[in-house]
Amino acid sequence: MTSNIEFMSGVKGLKDIDVTGKRVLIRVDFNVPMDAQFNIADDRRIRAALPTINYCIDHNACSITLVSHFGDPKGGYEERFSLRHIQKRLERLLQKKVEFIEDFENAHAEIASCSLERVFLLENIRFHSGEKKNDAELSKKLASICDVYVNDAFGTSHRKHASTYGISEYVSISVAGFLMLKEIAAFSKALEKPVKPIALVIGGAKISSKITLLSAVMPKIDKLIIGGAMSNTFLHAMGCDMQASLFEPEYLETALKVLDEAKRNKVKVYLPVDVVITDSVEHPIDIKVVPAQDVLEGFSAVDIGPASVKLFHEAIELSNTIIWNGPVGMYEVEKFSKGTYKLANAIADSYAYTIVGGGDTADAVEKAGESQNFSFISTGGGASLELLEGKILPGFELLNR
Ligand code: 3PG
Repeated sequence: MTSNIEFMSGVKGLKDIDVTGKRVLIRVDFNVPMDAQFNIADDRRIRAALPTINYCIDHNACSITLVSHFGDPKGGYEERFSLRHIQKRLERLLQKKVEFIEDFENAHAEIASCSLERVFLLENIRFHSGEKKNDAELSKKLASICDVYVNDAFGTSHRKHASTYGISEYVSISVAGFLMLKEIAAFSKALEKPVKPIALVIGGAKISSKITLLSAVMPKIDKLIIGGAMSNTFLHAMGCDMQASLFEPEYLETALKVLDEAKRNKVKVYLPVDVVITDSVEHPIDIKVVPAQDVLEGFSAVDIGPASVKLFHEAIELSNTIIWNGPVGMYEVEKFSKGTYKLANAIADSYAYTIVGGGDTADAVEKAGESQNFSFISTGGGASLELLEGKILPGFELLNR
């Protein structure tokens, strides 16, 4: 039986086609972290798309249209989610003029006409309500401005949206960009013939979307190390009152089911035994380390404590493949960053094949000074977890084979 990874490795890539004189639409993932003043905190995802864009420029594509989402706007235009904030950085990195298209439907004729070597960046595609619904009309409209569709948005390839999936039904040449194939090759090493034991380290604040995947990944892993807001949900479900900590009350039962599933699959689960707590996340005055079951009334757990760091370190040292998704504390606040940075050091020091997935985790690894010491830094958070689950990601499903 073909595995999901084998299926996805079998799609055609840019080098299998000729883009000369063609209008190429590239779906990229420019969903980058940005502060309130619209400064890009980490442009890794933009840089990761450059090989594909440059290849199309170098091979004389007649126009290149870049399509991305940015954040998750709920109802049309919102300035904070405008891709206009990306345009300058992109121009600097590409060393080329990029024309920003506010409304691609109005600019349809201009984009659709073949004009040599123009690079367009469309406004956030999620401002169109049809994007997340994988609407056929939007898919067709996007398809009508190109001859070739290239999906290079690995970070969004687990979404079945108009620009990541639907468009492929209406463009006869649909291929993967270099980033997509590079990501699959890296995960193939970790998932197809992994050197066991495999540890999945999971944390971060996006609890609801990740916790539901955990049961499905159990058959693939040997150890599950849980930290951050994710572990608060587990600890609370197990009877530790996590007080004001961030956790998902609606997922306590799911957490218990995950633990049952781990037991059934003989997966060892590691949870924090101690935590760093604070009286206030925004203005911390009182910060203490306490056993996980002794969080003080009104306090929040914001990092793992030193005993947990030691425990996790030992579990990591004995693993041969490590996949890390999500920080184990609020690493963006210096006082609460120790656990995440120590974990980054421990994983980097191990002799295992190590993959980091997700924007925040990659950022934490960089800040810990360890980005050179990981085997692979993925641009995909949710996407990498769905790979682990054994799914064929929709962004690959309809590409030419
Ligand atoms: C991400 O940041 O994980 C990707 O860009 C996907 O974004 P989404 O979770 O809003 O679909």
